[in-house]
Amino acid sequence: MTNSPKRYLITAALPYANGLKHIGHLAGAYLPADIYVRYLRAQKRDVAFICGSDEHGTAIPIQAMKEGTTPRAIIDKYHELIRQNFADLGISFDIYHRTSEPLHHETAQEFFTDLNSRGELEVKESEQYYDEEAKTFLADRYIVGTCPVCGNTRAYGDQCENCGTSLSPEMLLNPHSTLSGKPPVKRSTRHWYLPLDKYEDFLREWILTEHKDDWRTSVVGQCKSWIDGGLQPRAVTRDLDWGVKVPLPDAEGKVLYVWFDAPIGYISATRQWGLNTGKDWRPYWYDKDTKLVHFIGKDNIVFHCIIFPIMLKLHGNILPDNVPANEFMNLEGDKMSTSRNWKLEMEDYINDFIKKDNGGTQLADSLRYYLTTIAPETKDSEFTWKGFQDANNSELVSKFGNFVNRTFVLMHKLCNGKVPPLHTERLDDVDREMIIAIEATAIKVTKLLEEYRFRDAQFEVMMLSDLANKYMQKKEPWIVARTLEATPGNQQLIDNCLHLCLQITANLAILINPFLPFTARKMLYLMKVVEKMLDWENAGKLKLLSVGYSLRAPELLFRKIEDEEVKEQIAKLQAASAARITDGPIVPEGAVTKEAVAKPEIVYDDFAKLDLRVGTIVAAEKVEKADKLLKLSVDLGSEQRTIVSGIALHFKPEEIVGHQVVVVANLAPRKMRGIESNGMILMAEDPAGKLHFVQPGSTIQPGSGVS
Ligand code: 2FM
Ligand code: ZN
Repeated sequence: MTNSPKRYLITAALPYANGLKHIGHLAGAYLPADIYVRYLRAQKRDVAFICGSDEHGTAIPIQAMKEGTTPRAIIDKYHELIRQNFADLGISFDIYHRTSEPLHHETAQEFFTDLNSRGELEVKESEQYYDEEAKTFLADRYIVGTCPVCGNTRAYGDQCENCGTSLSPEMLLNPHSTLSGKPPVKRSTRHWYLPLDKYEDFLREWILTEHKDDWRTSVVGQCKSWIDGGLQPRAVTRDLDWGVKVPLPDAEGKVLYVWFDAPIGYISATRQWGLNTGKDWRPYWYDKDTKLVHFIGKDNIVFHCIIFPIMLKLHGNILPDNVPANEFMNLEGDKMSTSRNWKLEMEDYINDFIKKDNGGTQLADSLRYYLTTIAPETKDSEFTWKGFQDANNSELVSKFGNFVNRTFVLMHKLCNGKVPPLHTERLDDVDREMIIAIEATAIKVTKLLEEYRFRDAQFEVMMLSDLANKYMQKKEPWIVARTLEATPGNQQLIDNCLHLCLQITANLAILINPFLPFTARKMLYLMKVVEKMLDWENAGKLKLLSVGYSLRAPELLFRKIEDEEVKEQIAKLQAASAARITDGPIVPEGAVTKEAVAKPEIVYDDFAKLDLRVGTIVAAEKVEKADKLLKLSVDLGSEQRTIVSGIALHFKPEEIVGHQVVVVANLAPRKMRGIESNGMILMAEDPAGKLHFVQPGSTIQPGSGVS
């Protein structure tokens, strides 16, 4: 692909419309996609930015069961909420479509029919799990059981959310139906398969050779292990009633698999965008001079790099030029998780910050800024409220905002509120170095954005504001002003400094625009210039503001985040997590059978390996920077053990000293937050997720065995 293709088609993963999305989703796909698109738009490139709701699959009817409503009500509710959340955070899709739209059903059916009629799909009869009570086959999330990899007893038929492994229902141990709670039986059924195995050579060549250097290492690595592991034909239909109907007369009760129809959602959304704008959508999917880029999180790699490209190739479409998938973002020391209520939803941030602050869009930019500073581009990263506060207060407020504010204050004080002239004959080396840095930054930021290195690109923009602060500090125009009476010619030095600072401000607006669009527009307002100034071709230039032009009075670009706000958010996170309802697959009331919750059977010898002892907690303290952990000293009679336990959200340290507990005494040592933990204490968890001590009926000798 040349550097300047005719047009760009940028997609961001279609979120499931089954619940609110958290900032991990935002940082994973939508924010980087938006940064890239805003950069392309500033470059005046022809670009379509496509997203929308993924409204099929078993996740939707299951959420409907949880909320006691219909799938239609669920998708209508969450489509609108998620769409609005993205808009509030400045994610500027050209279209936010829906896979429930008739145009999508039509597009997906045409796609399937095209592949099927040309014999590209295989039809196979196989035995699949069936719920005799609910009288239905159990696809994907309608079946749950124990994950063969990590032992999680609540793994779904398509994936274990605990360890992330992709599963098929046959891989689950102790499978049972989400609908009745009963173990399923096997029944024969017919499905259509995409023969992935036939395209191994193509994938090796296309990903592992052609794109081995320009795609992210982690993306190529994940693809390699899928390909090396051997690709199997993949079913693209399901026995379900929620989804896009299989467009064949002999396929009653069958729909397209959600991962077959969802990516076609990018195409139907582009078609709808074409209808809305009067543009021809076809070249965006068929012309080789289109650069297609999919922004996704790492859990979607196989679908966007292996399955969908094969579908596109068979259908005669272009293939993605890049798939810059991000790793995951953790939150305050733990994996973000909806089921464990350990998350920060976009909706909550918007309510607690943006809306509380009278719609203060600067706080949308504060979040965008921090998420990009910690973007998980090469490895998992971590959001902490303290980190957010520091990034906002020490970087946006104290560096970028401070520079712009000082420039405006001094320009009003020392240059009558107008852009002063540049006296080239009075420029010195410090000025010249600053001028070089402006142009160099524009070049660096451009290169980094083209390489999808958004974190580094934003850092370079901040570096420019840092250099500009230092430049002003060296020039000290407020000190020079004191010499004016004796040396009136020194006004030229003041003019030069503020002229350059104002041109830097204009450059900062252009360069920060893809990252912090609300801030860039506020800067335009302060400079009294129009949107056109943000054109990327202006980046690195020095004559953006005309001499003699009068500018507005200074206004602060950012506000500080107070300690109180940080404390409140941490307390809110902990309270929500502690009050969580045990989640995962739903089993209707009364349906929880003994089999449904049991782990796989073990033999006595397995049990006998455990050395269980009664211990007495003699000391307990919080572990620094780990809100969930307590460091315990446990008396085991013959010795005192240090045990790190994840119970801090349930018990205060002082409450538990003196309690007896059952300890797994022969568990291999494990380091947690730098502390070696020697054993584990057992706790019981009630249905509301609250923990309770498991202890002897009356106090006994520490070290006593439990069997
Ligand atoms: O993982 C998810 O949230 C999926 N709904 C993403 C779909 S992306 C695309 F293929 F539509
Ligand atoms: Zn697992």
